[in-house]
Amino acid sequence: RAKAGQSEMGTPFSTWVLQQEMKDNIDNEHAIVLQSISVACKQIASLVQRAGLAGMTGLAGEQNVQGEDQKKLDVISNDVFCDTLRLSGRTGVIASEEEDVPVAVEETYGGNYVCVFDPLDGSSNIDAAVSTGSIWGIYAGDSQCVPDFSSESPAEVEAKCVQNVCQPGENLVSAGYCMYSSSTILVISVGDGVFGFTLDSAVGEFIMTHERIQIPKSGKIYSFNEGNYDMWTPGLKQYMDSLKTGGKETGTKPYSARYIGSLVGDFHRTMLYGGIYGYPGDAKNPTGKLRLLYECAPMSFLAEQAGGAGSDGTGRVLKINPEKVHQRVPFFTGSVEEVAYLESFMK
Ligand code: AHG
Ligand code: MN
Ligand code: MN
Ligand code: MN
Repeated sequence: RAKAGQSEMGTPFSTWVLQQEMKDNIDNEHAIVLQSISVACKQIASLVQRAGLAGMTGLAGEQNVQGEDQKKLDVISNDVFCDTLRLSGRTGVIASEEEDVPVAVEETYGGNYVCVFDPLDGSSNIDAAVSTGSIWGIYAGDSQCVPDFSSESPAEVEAKCVQNVCQPGENLVSAGYCMYSSSTILVISVGDGVFGFTLDSAVGEFIMTHERIQIPKSGKIYSFNEGNYDMWTPGLKQYMDSLKTGGKETGTKPYSARYIGSLVGDFHRTMLYGGIYGYPGDAKNPTGKLRLLYECAPMSFLAEQAGGAGSDGTGRVLKINPEKVHQRVPFFTGSVEEVAYLESFMK
């Protein structure tokens, strides 16, 4: 057991998960779900690395419930996540960007955890081999609302699944993402700090490389799709204009723009370097583009665990009670001072 003050760098992910169980941060069933997710991430990392070689680039020819044209790897990654979570025997309900409605798991053996996930984030980048990722959040199942296949109609089962899944982000018991980039990095929190693990493919295991990540309190990098500028509110335009003259310290070095169009990649850089990532609402889409349940809430959980912020422009994302599984919210996250500065323009 790592002694106080002793670094845990180099610890394998599977060992770290067992340490979290020993610390009572998670129970055994949750530990099994996390191990299963790490296997799904390794499989997706391998698929993404080989996409161009194995004919897995391009469109699947279907649309998802959000009206997006699914990439082949959106569908394949979704299958990997769904099968892995189902076969873990510890998840009661799963919800995915690529599933119209939440799915009740008949193979639940224990734990009854709820897992919400974006199996492949930034998938528009996959054909150009630009960073993509997977995002997930885990909730305790609602023991008063367990779907019963034997006695309930499909509509009743679905209603119970939606109720299990539509929980505010402050109920999350863990959240994480895996970034498929020049390195494959799994970043996770079980409510006791944020840890990053880099995949050592020679060993086939994620090894701890980032211990208790802390987002810098401020940072002069902003990450927005400025192509939408004309559709933003006047307040947001003023905010964005001010960054070009140094932001809150006017007359100093202006901010740098960094935007790759994969939330996981833009978020991971913001976690390490500081600054702000934003996907605002605009005249065309007042609630923005990102989905609350499996993008904004898990990332806000991680941001807050790392001493940063996750806001919808007026308040904490984690306080928002989802009404719909695929509900979108405006999203701003990163350094606390940068998010507060943005919010001052949104009043
Ligand atoms: P997904 O690929 O899971 O649908 O998510 C795409 C999201 C997010 O990853 C990214 O930050 C954003 O869409 C990019 O949107 P724009 O192309 O409109 O900037
Ligand atoms: Mn998508
Ligand atoms: Mn996404
Ligand atoms: Mn996606």
